[in-house]
Amino acid sequence: MMMMKKGTSAIDLDNILKDVLEIIIKYEEKYNRKIPVIAAGGIFTGKDIARVMNFGVSGVQMGTRFVCTEECDVSDTFKQAYINSSKEDIKIIMSPLGYPGRVILNPFMKRVLEIDKIKTACSFRCIKNCKADKVNFCIAKALLAAQKGNMEDGLVFCGENAHRVTEILTVPALMQELVNEAEIFYKHKPEKSLYRDTIK
Ligand SMILES: Cc1cc2nc3c(=O)[nH]c(=O)nc-3n(C[C@H](O)[C@H](O)[C@H](O)COP(=O)(O)O)c2cc1C
Repeated sequence: MMMMKKGTSAIDLDNILKDVLEIIIKYEEKYNRKIPVIAAGGIFTGKDIARVMNFGVSGVQMGTRFVCTEECDVSDTFKQAYINSSKEDIKIIMSPLGYPGRVILNPFMKRVLEIDKIKTACSFRCIKNCKADKVNFCIAKALLAAQKGNMEDGLVFCGENAHRVTEILTVPALMQELVNEAEIFYKHKPEKSLYRDTIK
């Protein structure tokens, strides 16, 4: 998996996809089999989907757009944190496991960033490489609290475009919107050759 860097954009994703496909194609030829590439990170509209599919990827993975759906089982408070966020509220932090993660700066996150270590006893021992006594918060507790809507103790993960979410839709309505937008893109920009095919 390739990690996206701070301040990602559609252009960054497109460049990453080009790099990945160029490498993947060599292995496909070597082993004579197709290797699926799934594009993810910042894909927000049907137009985005159509754009990245034109590279010749096998599919897309979308997280952020589906958080604010009726079917998503996080609390309404969690969904409202997305809807009420601005671009400036979205930051990349280091998780207790040492990986970067994009979050919304809610009351909990502001506290974590201000205080060196929040008093936390580890009740789980869930992940081996988590140094429970050294980290400044317990990610399992923070994720559970956020899922339940407790913004004082909860960590709200999100994608770079969370601030662009304006409403809660049903999954079928969202899917229809994405299909409509993709169709408009294809109508105005008829498919030439896929990037994947041009590098063979
Ligand atoms: C609320 C939320 C939680 C996520 N949790 C994880 C996770 O635990 N592990 C992981 O590898 N990716 C996680 N992701 C990343 C998604 O799997 C996905 O690749 C990414 O969000 C796609 O970008 P997008 O949100 O801009 O569509 C999470 C994303 C969101 C929005």
